Amino acid sequence: MPVQPSPVVMGIETSCDETGVALVRDGVLLGEALSTSMDQHARYGGVVPEIAARAHVQALVPCVRAALASAGLTAADIGAVAVTAGPGLATALHVGVSAAKAYATALDVPLYGVHHLAGHLAADLVDGEPLPDPLIALIVSGGHTSLLRVGDLARDPIVHLGDTLDDAAGECFDKVARVLGLPYPGGPAVDREAVGNDPAALAFPRPLTGRTDAPYTFSFSGLKTAVARWVEAHPDSAVPAGDVIASFQEAVVDVLTAKAIRACRDHEIGDLLIVGGVAANSRLRALAAQRCEAAGLRLRIPARKRCTDNGVMIAALGDLLVRSGAAPSRPDLAAMPGAFLDQAQLGVAHPAQHAA
Ligand code: KG4
Ligand code: ZN
Repeated sequence: MPVQPSPVVMGIETSCDETGVALVRDGVLLGEALSTSMDQHARYGGVVPEIAARAHVQALVPCVRAALASAGLTAADIGAVAVTAGPGLATALHVGVSAAKAYATALDVPLYGVHHLAGHLAADLVDGEPLPDPLIALIVSGGHTSLLRVGDLARDPIVHLGDTLDDAAGECFDKVARVLGLPYPGGPAVDREAVGNDPAALAFPRPLTGRTDAPYTFSFSGLKTAVARWVEAHPDSAVPAGDVIASFQEAVVDVLTAKAIRACRDHEIGDLLIVGGVAANSRLRALAAQRCEAAGLRLRIPARKRCTDNGVMIAALGDLLVRSGAAPSRPDLAAMPGAFLDQAQLGVAHPAQHAA
């Protein structure tokens, strides 16, 4: 009997300020397009939801066309549509979800709503190895910081070992950057300014790393305040600004990597995956590699351009769901701005409804 080829999955991402569209079939990336409204938010110091939504409306169809053109395909070749249904900015999510429903209906193909953070977990599945099962995942994005135990990403419940009690790691980078007078978005600016400077110049706190603290729980708002207080208290400091920035960054990545490695060790899991926008941070990547090697763990981090939001990760997750026999999401799929991450797919008619 001839083997049925997998359908081409179109992935759509619009949860924040990036409009991403990509086409993936059978783990192979066929084409992609990305448009960002980041510059339009810079003067406000953070993402303005209405501006982001308007930019998505303007960019979405051109991105679909560009992704198809780069793949040498037409809309008629699309066999399934995957879309970020949440979490994210409500106004922004609505644009992607509405567009995905329209494409799926017009093309008469199945629709898969997916969780944005599960998309991050799938970011380097295209043109790469399957994910190890089980693995410990550290998600570090602008809105979330979590340590997870992940089995089969398409089928198994995702278990939270710990989350942040307050600010996310990316949010902490963005807020501290603002205090230090660096441009938005703060994470890449801190990363750039820290290079070549002394990470040990100042001993900023490492929150929740005491012996009696919850081992996998994070807290970054106190660190943010500590940096702000230090800057206020030392207006004429001889410590160069680059050293302050490098010391702050070191505190964040020290805590992230120490807790991630502890989770691997405690759960006797030999594979660590680090994803999300902050995973693009060069010091986090270097320290994680160094510590994983010392601990005998295998480390996987997507290429830097696949760490921040993009359409490829959503198409890759959609492709994984399709190939694992997942039933499509309900046709009345709704945007879920506050969706909790306990499974990769959202808007499932009957949870655990898998063909095989
Ligand atoms: O995953 P992402 O693109 O969007 C969300 O889902 O939130 O993450 C964006 C976050 C922002 O806070 C941004 O400052 C941070 O990732 N980020 C970085 C770097 N690149 C992006 N943080 C530290 N170093 C970087 N190189
Ligand atoms: Zn993200």
